[in-house]
Amino acid sequence: MTRPLQFFQYQNGILSSDGVSLEAIAEQIGTPVYIYSASGFIDPLKELQEGMRDLNHLICFALKSNSNLSILRMLAKEGAGMDLVSGGELFRAAQAGVQSDKIVFSGVGKTADEMKQGLLYEGTGIYSFNVESLPELRQLNDVAISLGKRAPVALRFNPDVDAKTHPYISTGLKRNKFGITRSEVLSVVRSLDQLRGIHLKGLSIHIGSQLLSLAPLDDAFSKLSDLVHELDHHQDRPLEFADLGGGIGITYQNEKAPLIQSYCKLIKKHFGKRAKNSPQFKLLIEPGRTLSGNAGVLVSKVIYRKERRNKDFLVIDAAMNDLIRPALYESFHEIVPIEKRLVVSKSSPKKKWVKTNIVGPVCESSDCFASDRPFSSQIGPGDLVAILSAGAYGFSMSSTYNSRPRPAEVLIQEGKFSTIRTRETWEDLVRGE
Ligand code: LLP
Repeated sequence: MTRPLQFFQYQNGILSSDGVSLEAIAEQIGTPVYIYSASGFIDPLKELQEGMRDLNHLICFALKSNSNLSILRMLAKEGAGMDLVSGGELFRAAQAGVQSDKIVFSGVGKTADEMKQGLLYEGTGIYSFNVESLPELRQLNDVAISLGKRAPVALRFNPDVDAKTHPYISTGLKRNKFGITRSEVLSVVRSLDQLRGIHLKGLSIHIGSQLLSLAPLDDAFSKLSDLVHELDHHQDRPLEFADLGGGIGITYQNEKAPLIQSYCKLIKKHFGKRAKNSPQFKLLIEPGRTLSGNAGVLVSKVIYRKERRNKDFLVIDAAMNDLIRPALYESFHEIVPIEKRLVVSKSSPKKKWVKTNIVGPVCESSDCFASDRPFSSQIGPGDLVAILSAGAYGFSMSSTYNSRPRPAEVLIQEGKFSTIRTRETWEDLVRGE
């Protein structure tokens, strides 16, 4: 579990990280700007590595949550593999120098070209394709045979478990498009000798994202572990691995997210014995948000204060195209002023704060980062605010809607900051048109 201000603190009255002032970055780089803390990624990764230490394991960062090359390189250097879902993400993994035996390819719509790209990655091909349907398996079989290869595969099992998260990011129910049922897995396994291009190595699951309770995972792991055992009787060789997906939640407001240690204990409860009896058996996990969510903030400048009878609107220079989560999922992000003297709460004296909507300049009413928040009445044009917990699914889901160039990205590491993606320009916007 990580918290919104775990890797960013007020220092000398200014929001900072690792001794670097976010105000200084905004002055130099401009706004809006995504700012990441290296420890924000590395600390939870280390905690996961520590929790999984007794197990043969591989932690594959879900790079859809944050796919900046500098972040990928940093995580790969710390031993992480990657979970990816497109040819573009595989290209990024290659650019970041991620080893082939540390890559899993998930997703319901892999094309023949993407399969080829995965099979030829670094010559040897990636660790596993997590296959989600029979037509996909047949396609992969054909592509592999045409290249004279056998494709390493994990079947994605849909355990029909309610992850109790936002419906848009819940994936483990029968009605979702993901994975195949237990009986489909068994029938695929029975027909494997007709698929010469397939090497079944594992099973995978992923039931949803931002899970705030471990109970659905407990249920899903139990069903997966049963199925792994069942397959022992159907195959000459035992499975090489189980991929447990991503999904443990983080704190955005004051939700009690699961502890990383408890998550690792749960994994041991279901798979510890098997791992002990067959040391070759590997456990994969695919965390995204756990590693990236609270590692980043989006810093933005106030353009106007627009006063209204019941509340004020603060119009800032970041918008829904930069961070779409509030508009798309109505998700909560804490927003704080960069200057500590401007921090207020509902318990501050009445004249110090005003009910505020914090909104962007895009022409849609859903372009709203926060509604009815107590915010300082002193904040006005030119002041900086930080939208917290923006490291996961922030920049990676950004767009150029309203022809707004995407923000710069900055990484703070060892007390210094560097730009890891320059701000897009107007020329970038029209390139290719
Ligand atoms: N593995 C698979 C197969 C996935 O589909 C996902 C996320 C993950 C791992 C990583 O999940 P995480 O550890 O980050 O929860 N855009 C949404 C989240 C979409 C998640 C999609 N799949 C959001 O902003 O909340």
